[in-house]
Amino acid sequence: MEDKIARLKEIASNRPEMGAVVDGALSSVESCSSLEEVKDARVKLLGKKGSVTALFKSIGQAPPEEKPLIGEAGNLLRTVVEEKLDAKERELRSRETSERMRREALDVTLPGRRPPLGRRHVLSQVTSEITNIFISMGYQVVEGPEAELDYYNFEALNTPPMHPARSLNDTFYIRRADAERDSRDDVLLRTHTSPVQVRQMESRKPPLYVVSPGKAYRRDEIDMTHSAMFSQVEGFAVDKGINMGHLKGTLEVFAKRLFGEDRDVRFRPHFFPFTEPSAEVDVSCFVCQGSGCSLCKGVGWLEILGCGMIDPNVFDYVGIDKEEYTGFAFGMGIERVAMMKYGIDDMRVLYENDVRFLKQF
Ligand code: PHE
Repeated sequence: MEDKIARLKEIASNRPEMGAVVDGALSSVESCSSLEEVKDARVKLLGKKGSVTALFKSIGQAPPEEKPLIGEAGNLLRTVVEEKLDAKERELRSRETSERMRREALDVTLPGRRPPLGRRHVLSQVTSEITNIFISMGYQVVEGPEAELDYYNFEALNTPPMHPARSLNDTFYIRRADAERDSRDDVLLRTHTSPVQVRQMESRKPPLYVVSPGKAYRRDEIDMTHSAMFSQVEGFAVDKGINMGHLKGTLEVFAKRLFGEDRDVRFRPHFFPFTEPSAEVDVSCFVCQGSGCSLCKGVGWLEILGCGMIDPNVFDYVGIDKEEYTGFAFGMGIERVAMMKYGIDDMRVLYENDVRFLKQF
């Protein structure tokens, strides 16, 4: 290459026109800075109307002794320009490739981006906490239907047709009985999880130790402490020799596990149609430790559940021998427990699915 250029310069040295063509050609190759420009230079120099081609064409008018030299110079120039353009093209291509590689390179040492993790809803978490405590005491978890027969929701729970708990205002009916049909066939949305007790006792033999979480429905106005759909956990035990002491001991252990060992628990007499005697259970307020505050409305106690000894009439409905077996039952509202546990004062946030709220649990 170098000797070709040297020879070319030698021929052109005393031919200024040829010298201008050679210098112009070499510098326009040199000045190419993109593949596009290389392509243009190829046309401009070596194409039909290119300046190198023009050099050959000038042979026609040249004197005879000049012709071989012009021919030689033309060939040299074409070869040199072609080689230089090829080299330029290779150089630009490889620069472009390495730039693209740099641009598109992955830094495999960068830490990955964590995908945002979902989580269980706070009500599901609390439900699991409650059922897990009972599972650890040997209870089984079962579920029952939300659309329920009147018979299981009321009748077999010793709640006769005229009982106030059946009030039309409280219950969502799906199908009401007409004159010819028995009201026990009415279909409704269960107003509590207690019908699961009846279904279980009716279809299985004691001993039974069962908890049953699920939704329940009541025709309530929705406000800070009420919802037309809410969640409960039902629990019951049927065995030989079960007494009120077993109920108290079980619920005391449960309340301390759920709310903390330093909680006090008290039983207050109450009434439910399907338990006798019945009680409501309170735990000492964990905000004021019992001295009275806004959470417990100055009482020092918070109600957490209803319970009692299963009424012998219920055993009659399900065909369990009331002389041989006794049992206890309890039911609690999960929203209430969650609100107490986390100091939530408006129940509606539990259903609104605002992730800013839910992320906290
Ligand atoms: N079913 C009752 C309620 O919804 C709670 C309860 C369950 C009471 C079991 C006693 C026994 O209020």
